[in-house]
Amino acid sequence: MRKMLRALRFRKLITGVYTKRFQKYGRQPSGVYWSDKDRQLSRFSIILNQVAAVLPKGSVSIADVGCGYGALAHHLRNGVNSDYIRYHYTGYDINPTLIRACRGAPGIPSKQFKLGDCPSEVVDFSVMSGTYNMSVTRDLDHWETYILDCLERCWRYSRHGMVFNLLSADYSYISEGMLYHSNIHNIRRYCRSNFGATRIIREARLPSDATLVVVR
Ligand SMILES: C[S@@+](CC[C@H](N)C(=O)[O-])C[C@H]1O[C@@H](n2cnc3c(N)ncnc32)[C@H](O)[C@@H]1O
Repeated sequence: MRKMLRALRFRKLITGVYTKRFQKYGRQPSGVYWSDKDRQLSRFSIILNQVAAVLPKGSVSIADVGCGYGALAHHLRNGVNSDYIRYHYTGYDINPTLIRACRGAPGIPSKQFKLGDCPSEVVDFSVMSGTYNMSVTRDLDHWETYILDCLERCWRYSRHGMVFNLLSADYSYISEGMLYHSNIHNIRRYCRSNFGATRIIREARLPSDATLVVVR
């Protein structure tokens, strides 16, 4: 019960933080705390490459959990990569302001964006980019418990797997600026014990990120 109330409080605080940011900067990477577009897009490519490595052919349904203003949806739609056509996208976010912004943008049917912290139906892959980076508590245990519960809910709706990134460090901590850095090996161990086989992907272009690929 206490855990549930805490999760509700976190969601309210996260929503407040991102609403304020989005109202200030609008539909651009800085509007959801990314430092620049290249790095936002690099994260999308890493995630999509990992999904493609597991499902190299045919149509793939993906739930983009923590979709922000819908940047991945537009990346897939406008992408130069012709392979992107096989992705059937749905974006989820806990923030009603951001979901409204996604639905109001031209080019993508509004029904492809939904309010929520996990898919509302089973998809091939759940993907999350930056979704759990911004902590709203200084209590590391509480934040990690919250994240793992969110992952657990997404896992239930993920037919083939989940791909998500986290900031990573030698030990887990929450920075002065409230950014959560994970001990990625601990998170991997948890995913492997509770979900499925889990790999860590690192790329030199994003030295403080790690991407986890969890498959059934
Ligand atoms: C750093 S932004 C990233 C947005 C988008 N993935 C991108 O790369 O442009 C994080 C987003 O995750 C959302 N979010 C945070 N926690 C969430 C949760 N537990 N479930 C769904 N969305 C969440 C926030 O509202 C915010 O829009």
